[in-house]
Amino acid sequence: MSSSSAAAVDCADVDVSAGEDFYTGGPVNCTQCHGTYNGMVFPGPVRPIDPNDLTETTHAELAQYLDAKMAGGFNMGACADAACSNRAVEMAKYINKYSNDTNWCNTDTGMSSSSAPTGDGEFVDLYAINAGGKAITLQDGTEFTADFYSNAGNTGALTDLFNIEGVAQQDLDLYRTERWGEFTYDFPVKDGTYDVKLYVMEGWFGPQNAGNRVFDVTAEGQNIATDVDPLVKTGHDKPFVIEAQNIQVTDGKLSLDFTASVDAASIRAIVVRGLEGNKAPYEADTGTVGTAAVPDDCSGDSQVTANDFVLFDGSQVGAVAGKTLGLHGNWVLQEVWDANAKLETENAASGKAIAYSNAGIFTGFKFVAPSDMTGTASAFKFSGADIYIDYETNNAPGNLPTFGFRVNYEGEANPNGSGAASTAKWMVDSNNQEPYSANSKGCSLIQLKAPLNWNWDAPGHMGNKLIWEMKNGWSNSDKIRIRRIVFKDFEYKM
Ligand code: HEC
Repeated sequence: MSSSSAAAVDCADVDVSAGEDFYTGGPVNCTQCHGTYNGMVFPGPVRPIDPNDLTETTHAELAQYLDAKMAGGFNMGACADAACSNRAVEMAKYINKYSNDTNWCNTDTGMSSSSAPTGDGEFVDLYAINAGGKAITLQDGTEFTADFYSNAGNTGALTDLFNIEGVAQQDLDLYRTERWGEFTYDFPVKDGTYDVKLYVMEGWFGPQNAGNRVFDVTAEGQNIATDVDPLVKTGHDKPFVIEAQNIQVTDGKLSLDFTASVDAASIRAIVVRGLEGNKAPYEADTGTVGTAAVPDDCSGDSQVTANDFVLFDGSQVGAVAGKTLGLHGNWVLQEVWDANAKLETENAASGKAIAYSNAGIFTGFKFVAPSDMTGTASAFKFSGADIYIDYETNNAPGNLPTFGFRVNYEGEANPNGSGAASTAKWMVDSNNQEPYSANSKGCSLIQLKAPLNWNWDAPGHMGNKLIWEMKNGWSNSDKIRIRRIVFKDFEYKM
């Protein structure tokens, strides 16, 4: 039994899901004593493990610790061979995944690096994203993560795509969604050489419409595709892949820039290939996005700093589509939970407003953070929110409809309901109260702070959505209009 075998394994090769399988179903049944991860800790029954507060070992030595323990510890003596040592590494990475430790095996992103190396011998898929869509595993096992790393553009999905010649049914979702418009992608990588594969398919313009979409793509400022007209290249609903090799990166990110000379650029999936281990950590842009001017007709002066995140400021909103609305930084207003509710954008005195009406009391909607590379909403934290609203209501000032705003945090037991639960994290006003309302129907500032008892640094206690709910005094003849929302001191979890 050698524990050095564990230490020798390259972290990038470690299969974290095999670690999870072994944890739950291996010859040593870890769950029997430690339980399954509950969003914060492995809770027991016999001995809880807090991945952020290991007391018996360190993350760097976790693999060796488990290797030795499986041979003779945990009162099991259950396994002590080379396979067991490998599993120890995988399990260490699995436990490490839930920690803030960045020193050991921090390269896991849920990405597959399983596709076969090409002729160059060593390149693997570093990133594979399904543009405009969710994570998907193709029939051949290739994994694409949800759309991420993009700036600007719009997402779209075809509702009438039922088959594509030569493409497995299971793989259709890769081609169903797209990012379109003028946009960029920045993939964090170490400086070096990379290959890119761009998956393109015209699903919007009909076969007779050649010339209606023509676009260019650059990588690191160099043309990799010029005058792409998908209908000329292959035709309607006929995917093709544009490959570019030998892209030199010297600025820590591989940047792809999509621009159109006719209509809009469109991309369905992107694969970035390079040397194993050449991904770099993602650093979210938490700086100001948008113009963030206080709307002309609003009272109250909320200042925006570089640490704040402007979720909505009356600019750059797309159209409401199926009761969803894209906001800055790839956030989305969605999950309107009253079937009769109306969600609209309206022109306001300056900029646009998000208008919510025709909905009952205790209804609302969610603001959902962009997906991280595992396809789940990115966790974040912030100290409060400055919100401008106005009303259309017959209620008199002093009795204006109230609303609550609460954080839906990672691992919350019942994220879609139970706002009354003692665990629900409502934002509070300067009197530590919720719900809140304005004193006038005209545009006014509401300043909220995150609940004081919130432990920002504990795992499982950071947000990934915000829930807006209309409360006392609200009825379906009222309309509330959101003019601007800024999250103060905002950070994504790294
Ligand atoms: C029979 C109960 C039992 C089983 C089964 C068990 N453990 Fe433990 N584990 C413990 C106890 C008790 C401790 C505390 C240290 C000790 O007594 O050895 C511990 C400690 C640990 C620690 C260190 C935690 C810290 O705070 O530093 C880790 C990690 C761990 N176990 C992982 C595992 C894994 C992975 C498995 C499955 C391969 C496993 N355990 C199976 C009982 C068990």
